Amino acid sequence: MGGFPVLKSVAVANRLFLHRAVRHLVGLGVEQFIDIGSGIPTMGNTHQVADEVASGAKVVYVDNEPVAVAHSRYLLDKHGDPARHAVIQADMRDPDGLWDRARDAGVIDFARPVAVLLVAVLHIQQPGRDGTDIGPRAVARYRELLRSGSYLAISHVTTEGVPPAFREKLLEVKDLYDVSSNPVVWREQSEIRALLGDFELVPPGMTWTPLWHPEESGPNAPELEFASPEESVIWAGVGRKP
Ligand SMILES: C[S@@+](CC[C@H](N)C(=O)[O-])C[C@H]1O[C@@H](n2cnc3c(N)ncnc32)[C@H](O)[C@@H]1O
Repeated sequence: MGGFPVLKSVAVANRLFLHRAVRHLVGLGVEQFIDIGSGIPTMGNTHQVADEVASGAKVVYVDNEPVAVAHSRYLLDKHGDPARHAVIQADMRDPDGLWDRARDAGVIDFARPVAVLLVAVLHIQQPGRDGTDIGPRAVARYRELLRSGSYLAISHVTTEGVPPAFREKLLEVKDLYDVSSNPVVWREQSEIRALLGDFELVPPGMTWTPLWHPEESGPNAPELEFASPEESVIWAGVGRKP
């Protein structure tokens, strides 16, 4: 998102949402996470945040990029516990295959609730065989695969409700990405909510990233340079499977 004035804060706010979602979910009794599209490890990774607030939390990192997987593997080799942490290379567009691989990793107990994290992943276009975006269809399958009492956390760029100058910038950025090998899709807020299907929204519901349980920020959370939460441009929420 080159040329975006508060780009760093957008990325940091997204990351802090992930941290708070993990802390909050641990508070709700969830201690198993499948972090899909986990990316290259950066500030506060899921297993590190979970370990701060829970003993024995289990995390499977998933990415389809070999470089991201290699970095996560390196991190876990140094600072992970093989009985509780794993990384797999898998594609979110193949939910059943990904689920099998996660099961084979042997750290998650699928008889108990699991939280799937899809943080800043679904605004990257997910082309199916015919080239159309199958991200929402794949998410629907994850909702089916999760057992009752499980959770799904999502964050996603939106152009809706953002200040006009930011909206224009987002559309410019989209044009740049769309001629690259990583086209993007900016969704309306209702479309992002729809990704959670019939899951019950965990309070406060869908919000801008900085507004989702800000009280659960860690003591070392960096300051964000937003004039208003809308400048974070990422809409986020967590749902619970009934
Ligand atoms: C913007 S990064 C987000 C990283 C991290 N979740 C965060 O919020 O900081 C998106 C990640 O999703 C991964 N990704 C994109 N499409 C994917 C797919 N179909 N299957 C698995 N991972 C995917 C990319 O490789 C990248 O590492």
